[in-house]
Amino acid sequence: MTSPGPAPRADGGRRILLLVGAAGAGKGTQAAILSERLGLAHLASGDLFRAALRDGTPVGERARHYMERGELVPDEITIELFMAELAKPQAAKGAILDGFPRTVTQAEALDATLERQGEEISRLVYVDVPQEELVARLSGRWICPTCGTVYHAMTDPPRVAGVCDREGTKLVQRDDDRPEVVRARLAKQVPPMLEVLAHYERKGVVSRIDGQQPIEQVTAAIMDAIGKDRAPVAARAQDGD
Ligand code: AP5
Ligand code: MG
Repeated sequence: MTSPGPAPRADGGRRILLLVGAAGAGKGTQAAILSERLGLAHLASGDLFRAALRDGTPVGERARHYMERGELVPDEITIELFMAELAKPQAAKGAILDGFPRTVTQAEALDATLERQGEEISRLVYVDVPQEELVARLSGRWICPTCGTVYHAMTDPPRVAGVCDREGTKLVQRDDDRPEVVRARLAKQVPPMLEVLAHYERKGVVSRIDGQQPIEQVTAAIMDAIGKDRAPVAARAQDGD
């Protein structure tokens, strides 16, 4: 049983939640649950790049080179793609950002865009999982190509092996879950992620969650943490904060 979600913000302002964690920490799993529960858009940078790759767009073609090597896609491509998504009507009520920002440059671009609109991030939730566990998780991950539901062969299996519970579609594995690419993703992407954490620690909006608990308990811990959202900018100004 998980705790109920926080009440909607009194000013109707957008709730912008950042979910941060290394590859395999459970960002996508938790963002899907929270998005349904809180009625917020789930914006995942990795999913945007994979869709661009599938559609054969120029952004997808440029991203391919980096994703295959487990490297971060350059900031200028990522920022443009992600900001366009955040400006869409689907994110009008707020959004859970899964996988963005991943560098301090991306974080500063996000902060500046929100500030121009009189907004700021509500909270950053860091899902902390030790590296050995991450490798095991990614090697057992299976995904529905139709609806994107994430499974794990051992810890969160579908009812019928290899088939999506919702769609009945055959599950697939991600190309970048090959062990050598997983190692590269962790080696190259964790250091900039820690810099992003430090950036937001300085703003006092970070909650650290133990991501090694069962999925439902991680969700409950996140729901508890986001109850500690900052008050909207306008309300704090009135309070003389
Ligand atoms: P992206 O798709 O974001 O990959 P990632 O960050 O490596 O994270 P994953 O999606 O692999 O893991 P996750 O944390 O979502 O875990 P999940 O919930 O699936 O990015 C892909 C690539 O795109 C990057 O490598 C980069 O090249 C590029 N990119 C993306 N964003 C970028 C950016 N901002 N800048 C530049 N480049 C960017 O869970 C994993 C498994 O664990 C599943 O099988 C799940 O069932 C299981 N699991 C989940 N929770 C638990 C639990 N509590 N207990 C046990 N098992 C669990
Ligand atoms: Mg993911």
